[in-house]
Amino acid sequence: MQHRRLLFAVLVVLLCLPALAGAQTSTATPDRTPEQQIYDRYLAWLFGVPVEQRDAKLLERYRATLAQQGVTAAEIDRQLAVIERDGRRLEADRWNTFFTTDKPRFNVMPNLFLTQIAERRTPGTALDMGMGQGRNSIWLARQGWQVTGFDPAVQAMAIAQQNAKSLGLTLTTIEARDDTFEWGENRWDLILLSYAGCDPANVPRIEKALKPGGVLIMEAFHTDAAKTFKIGGSLCGPGELPHMFQGLRTIHYEEPIALPDFGQVRMRIIRFAAEKPR
Ligand SMILES: C[S@@+](CC[C@H](N)C(=O)[O-])C[C@H]1O[C@@H](n2cnc3c(N)ncnc32)[C@H](O)[C@@H]1O
Repeated sequence: MQHRRLLFAVLVVLLCLPALAGAQTSTATPDRTPEQQIYDRYLAWLFGVPVEQRDAKLLERYRATLAQQGVTAAEIDRQLAVIERDGRRLEADRWNTFFTTDKPRFNVMPNLFLTQIAERRTPGTALDMGMGQGRNSIWLARQGWQVTGFDPAVQAMAIAQQNAKSLGLTLTTIEARDDTFEWGENRWDLILLSYAGCDPANVPRIEKALKPGGVLIMEAFHTDAAKTFKIGGSLCGPGELPHMFQGLRTIHYEEPIALPDFGQVRMRIIRFAAEKPR
């Protein structure tokens, strides 16, 4: 279970993110703590593992890889303990760093698919899971939505709050992960997962939390993209989402090759929108 949680914690992308280039190399860097370097090396390895092998045995596979590299048993135990104990905090740190660097390496504009679907709807309550620095939450708030966002990366959410304040908007931001957030029941008119993975554990949470008539909007990496690019996190398999969300009615599904919001080359992504029946 711990392995699965950790795998999901490693949300999304490494490719084309020079801001995170340190995470791709096993070379020690002086500005990284020993724990961060252990986690960096683990991620660099993880992003090269075929998607179908990113399962509950992941840490055991990593143990075997380290052993093959000649790392002693005691050192392997030490490194795996750091990953298990501190993985969540180190992952949040990674996103805090990513979102607080001066030169953004992602699309700072709101996600286009979100705007296309949300524009056609009457504003109500919106939830932005894994909101990052809030580009989408801010857009929704500007359209009149009452927005709550959550994320374990508190420095990223602080940027969202600063931007909201300067625009005279109100956002509710909560430090939480998908498995700790109180999603509620029949509470949201819109739930957004923008580059926030495809973890099946979130299906019952989302289906319960949406109001009848409420909409789920998702854009995420497709598993195909990981065949060619180094992408982490829980990816969406071919045709998976409409089947996963049996309690919702699909209103849009596509798997285009497109420029992702987090990445600098075109690859396969998924776009999914579905409504909870009234
Ligand atoms: C690629 S960013 C996407 C940010 C934002 N949704 C956007 O589109 O701009 C992924 C975000 O998910 C957050 N995250 C990672 N693990 C998470 C989890 N278990 N629950 C909620 N958010 C998580 C990260 O901290 C990061 O801010």
